[in-house]
Amino acid sequence: MHLNDGRPAGFFLTLEGPEGSGKSTQARRLATRLADFGLRSTVTREPGGTALGEEVRKILLHAPELQPVPAADALLFNAARAQLAAEVIEPALARGEVVICDRFADSTLAYQGYGAGRSIESLRSIASFAVGDLRPDLTVLIDLPVEDGLRRKVDDGEITRFESHADVDFHRRVRAGFLELAAAEPDRFVVVDGSQQLERIEAEIIAAILNRLPGMVRVPAGTTSGSAEVSVPSESEPKPESLRMKG
Ligand code: TMP
Repeated sequence: MHLNDGRPAGFFLTLEGPEGSGKSTQARRLATRLADFGLRSTVTREPGGTALGEEVRKILLHAPELQPVPAADALLFNAARAQLAAEVIEPALARGEVVICDRFADSTLAYQGYGAGRSIESLRSIASFAVGDLRPDLTVLIDLPVEDGLRRKVDDGEITRFESHADVDFHRRVRAGFLELAAAEPDRFVVVDGSQQLERIEAEIIAAILNRLPGMVRVPAGTTSGSAEVSVPSESEPKPESLRMKG
C-alpha cells in the first residue's frame, strides 16, 4: 500500500473472528515467524494498543455496570481506533513494517452491526471518520463455531462483557456477519478454519501474507503445516521496496 503522499508503506494485516478463535495467539506467533523472514512487524490490538485505547478497553469490556448502548459501543470502539491508527498503525506502516492488528473495523460491523443490529452504512461512516481511508491490505478471518469459541474463552477465564451479556444467538449473528463481509470482499479476506491445529492455521496465514507481498516467492497451493514449507524471499526477484528488511 501507499501513503496519501505516495510514499511506499508497509503491509497492514488484520486478524478477525468470533470469540475464542485464537487471534491473539496467532498475532504473537506471526510476529516471530515474520522476523524469520527478515520482516519487521508491530503487533497491536483493538480495542487498545495506546494509553487512551487501553482505558477505553476497560470501559468497553470490563464495566458492564455502565450499560453502554450499541451506538455508544460503536463510538467508543472507533475513538480507540482513531487513536491507534494515528499513534501506532500509520507510523509503523510509514516505517515500512508489517502491522498485525488483532481486530479492526470489521469487528464493529460484525458486533455492533450484524450482532446488535446497528446500521452497517452508519458504522462504515463512523469508521471512515475515525481512520480516513486506512484499510487493511489483508484480513484473515479465523472462523470457528461459536459454541467452541465461547467454551475456549470460559476455559481460559477470559470473559468480557460481550461473552457474559450477549447470548449465543448474538454470537451466531456476529459469525455469520464476518462470513458475509469476507464473501463480499474476497480479494481482501482469507478465511481460515480456526478449529485446525495452531501450526496449520499459522502456516495458512503466513502463506496468505507472503502471497501478497511484492517480491516474495509465491507459496505453492496446497502448502501444508510446518514452518519449513513456507517460502523465503527470492534472491532473483526485487526485494519489496515497501518493506524494510532487517539486518
Ligand atoms: P478480544 O480482545 O478478546 O477480542 O475482545 C474484544 C471484544 O470486543 C470482543 O468481544 C469483540 C468486541 N468488539 C466489538 O464488539 N466491536 C469492535 O469494534 C471491536 C474491535 C471489538
